[in-house]
Amino acid sequence: MAQNGFRTARYVPDRGLVRLVGLAVGAAAAVCAATWALATTTREGSAPWGSGPDWTATVVVLFVVAVGGRVAREVSGSRRAAVADGHQRDERLDRLERSVSALSSVNEPVLLRVGEVAAAVEQVGTRVDRSVARSRKALQTDLRQAEALVNLRAGFDVRAPLPMSRGWAASPDVLLTLVDLVLTRRPRLIVEAGSGLSTLWFCYALERLGAGRVVSLDHDPHFAELTRRRLQLHGLEHRAEIRVSQLQPVEHPELSAPQPWYSPEHVADLEKIDLLFVDGPPASTGPRSRMPALPILRERLSPGALIVLDDLVREDEQEILRRWQEMLPGSRSESLDHEKGTGLLFLP
Ligand SMILES: C[S@@+](CC[C@H](N)C(=O)[O-])C[C@H]1O[C@@H](n2cnc3c(N)ncnc32)[C@H](O)[C@@H]1O
Repeated sequence: MAQNGFRTARYVPDRGLVRLVGLAVGAAAAVCAATWALATTTREGSAPWGSGPDWTATVVVLFVVAVGGRVAREVSGSRRAAVADGHQRDERLDRLERSVSALSSVNEPVLLRVGEVAAAVEQVGTRVDRSVARSRKALQTDLRQAEALVNLRAGFDVRAPLPMSRGWAASPDVLLTLVDLVLTRRPRLIVEAGSGLSTLWFCYALERLGAGRVVSLDHDPHFAELTRRRLQLHGLEHRAEIRVSQLQPVEHPELSAPQPWYSPEHVADLEKIDLLFVDGPPASTGPRSRMPALPILRERLSPGALIVLDDLVREDEQEILRRWQEMLPGSRSESLDHEKGTGLLFLP
């Protein structure tokens, strides 16, 4: 039988009704028979309506019996049909319920899978959004670098091919800032930690001013030599001195522990540094690799000197800039939104 609420109302004649109709027909037949018998008896005695069988009564009785039987059969037949119809409907409902329950059990894993697929699609969407945002930011950065390079090149007659910017080398945005600072502050002595493309641009800016020189420290003889050769190609070798200085542990009261840096003897002759650009040693040489620059060179800086620290996007460099500012009471720091981040520290 069907288990749930799929039942619908159907007409099934009540057993009592069938019995009642049967009784009514029987009673009518009995009344007619009695009337017929009484009429016959009365006629044989003192019958008011004459002798002989009463044909009218007989016909009435027979008619009533015939009609009653017919009605009883009809009612009983329609009841049987309704019951049979109800059975069929129940069976159909049972089959339908079995199908629905079979479908539900099949659907459960399918629904689970659909849920998993929907979650995966959402994750892919999030990744695509992030990737689009990253691409947009990268495109903006590239455009800014291209614009900075165009600006740089527009101001100078560059006499030979330049090494590629970005990556290990300084990015055009910081190079443009450095050239601008040189042209406006007119430093006599620029000291640089980490030679390369920046050395060339410092020299071009100093050439424009007609005065000033660069001392560039490099721990790697190979890259120091490359910079020297580039300077010669551009006819700028007289403006810069590249000093190879192997990294060695340096000690200073303002350093918590000895750490690798250029040899202090290679900076011992430097006086009145107006601009210090700190772009080395590379981070791969140790944690907070550029920290010693200020403690070691502090006494050699001019009053009002400017320190430029590249790669401020890195936490180490942010920490270094904070510590340097603490070491230099009255100094002012600024952070430039460059590709690699640039920190400026203005000495009082
Ligand atoms: C950040 S780089 C200095 C870049 C320099 N200021 C310029 O603008 O090109 C620091 C040091 O990395 C080293 N270096 C430069 N190019 C390199 C490369 N392609 N691979 C490994 N080290 C490199 C050099 O010894 C350099 O002094």
